[in-house]
Amino acid sequence: MSDQVLIFDTTLRDGEQCPGASMNTREKLEVARQLARLKVDIIEAGFPIASDGDFEAVHAIATEIQGPCIAALARTTEKDIVRAGEAIAPAAKKRIHTFSSGSDIHLQTMLNISREENIKRSVNAVKIARKFTNDVEYSAQDTTRSDRDYLVELYSAVVEAGATTLNIPDTVGYAIPGEYGELIAYLVARVKGPGVIFSVHCHDDLGLAVANSLAAVQAGARQIECTINGLGERAGNTSLEEVVMAMKMRPEIFGGVTTGIDTRQLYPASRLVSHMTGMVVQRNKAIVGDNAFAHESGIHQHGMLKNRANYEIMRAEDVGRTSELTWGKHMGNHAVRKKLEEMGYKLSDEEIRKITEAIKTLADKKKHVYDEDVRAIVEGQFTEVPQVWKLDYLSVMTGAIPTASLRLVHASKQEPVSDAGTGDGPIDATLKTIDRITGLKGNLVDYSVASVTRGKDAIGEVSVRAQFENGKIVTGKAAATDIIEASALAYLNALNRHMDDQRRMAESEKPSV
Ligand code: KIV
Ligand code: ZN
Repeated sequence: MSDQVLIFDTTLRDGEQCPGASMNTREKLEVARQLARLKVDIIEAGFPIASDGDFEAVHAIATEIQGPCIAALARTTEKDIVRAGEAIAPAAKKRIHTFSSGSDIHLQTMLNISREENIKRSVNAVKIARKFTNDVEYSAQDTTRSDRDYLVELYSAVVEAGATTLNIPDTVGYAIPGEYGELIAYLVARVKGPGVIFSVHCHDDLGLAVANSLAAVQAGARQIECTINGLGERAGNTSLEEVVMAMKMRPEIFGGVTTGIDTRQLYPASRLVSHMTGMVVQRNKAIVGDNAFAHESGIHQHGMLKNRANYEIMRAEDVGRTSELTWGKHMGNHAVRKKLEEMGYKLSDEEIRKITEAIKTLADKKKHVYDEDVRAIVEGQFTEVPQVWKLDYLSVMTGAIPTASLRLVHASKQEPVSDAGTGDGPIDATLKTIDRITGLKGNLVDYSVASVTRGKDAIGEVSVRAQFENGKIVTGKAAATDIIEASALAYLNALNRHMDDQRRMAESEKPSV
């Protein structure tokens, strides 16, 4: 059995199924570039049959991204598989991932087919997929509530038809680690095929996705499907950063397996995905949360000063977290490019020029400029939601009746539009005035503000989740040294995203997995 555990990243497919986390093609490409820097083995780029937008994103990723294998998802119908095959065609390494279900509950009440018919369709799907690529993955959803011997029959049939990777999903996040490990061992022992790789795909409904994936590796799985920050349907998927670091820190527990991941790219990947999706990472999240390397208690701080190993099992630098004070207003484009490359960003000359200017402006306002400040600036450049409405001017008066005066510019109108309004507080007044000017009505379902940098003059990052007339929740994010300005920009980002979604939805209807 190989010592290498393949990392199959599904942030752009299952991760994107997380409510409110949808990304446009440019945002997906930016994430895919970071996944390539992270050196994941496979990028599941999307579900091409779902919409023209999904197809376009998978095709763009397959055209540009070098290194990882590019996978596309398809149900077992010919139409799905052909669309997936066309989307990944430009990639040097490509995979079709076709899926059905394994449990009786899915077969009887969702697909309305017999076990035999399911095998027939799955075999046929794998054969069609093999016409596009020799790398074909097959998944039966809901394996953890399926009859084990039926799974042996189903997976043996698809191997015979040409499947090269067998994925055993815990679709509903139902498994417990020991039990899931046993299921994997049961299938590894009975389903035979030359070079077949067993893969796992776990959901986190019981908070066990990472533990289940690791138990599966101990039982013989050699591919883990996972997402950055554990993003995904419902409670999410296995968190990539957690499984990778668990295997790296405790190789003896996993029989010495390794992954090809460049762990110094984990934190940049986490920040980028959080920014692109508007899904804030909880402060105490393992590996990538703000507090993951912070030591608060006196005893811990004392122990750390004596020897870091007293309270730290891994170094912050090894997962890509650095905070040296090296930025300043005298830096030129060349130095900025070099530092940004060290942080994992590869940007065009124009982007570097804009960022250098922004660093200088920030350095005039702020005593110290940290890596995190610069990261917030860089990520701000990537927010490629078309800016239909832009903030031109904002002034707020607090006091008995908080009042906001705003001027917004519409992309296709010459004249800016000004208005003023009151609210329960300065932020409420600002957002209500934005609604009045744009004629859209957003209901704020979530609002959070976090300091992304240090000190009294820190940059504040505001994340909002807003529901507009169509009922869909969209996210928005923005950073500024002034919280009210950051709130206005984040809300406008959500509003523009809503308008962009409306436009894309008009183009196509998206079936869900
Ligand atoms: O959760 C699941 O079963 C899936 C499959 C499509 C692999 O996402
Ligand atoms: Zn899934």
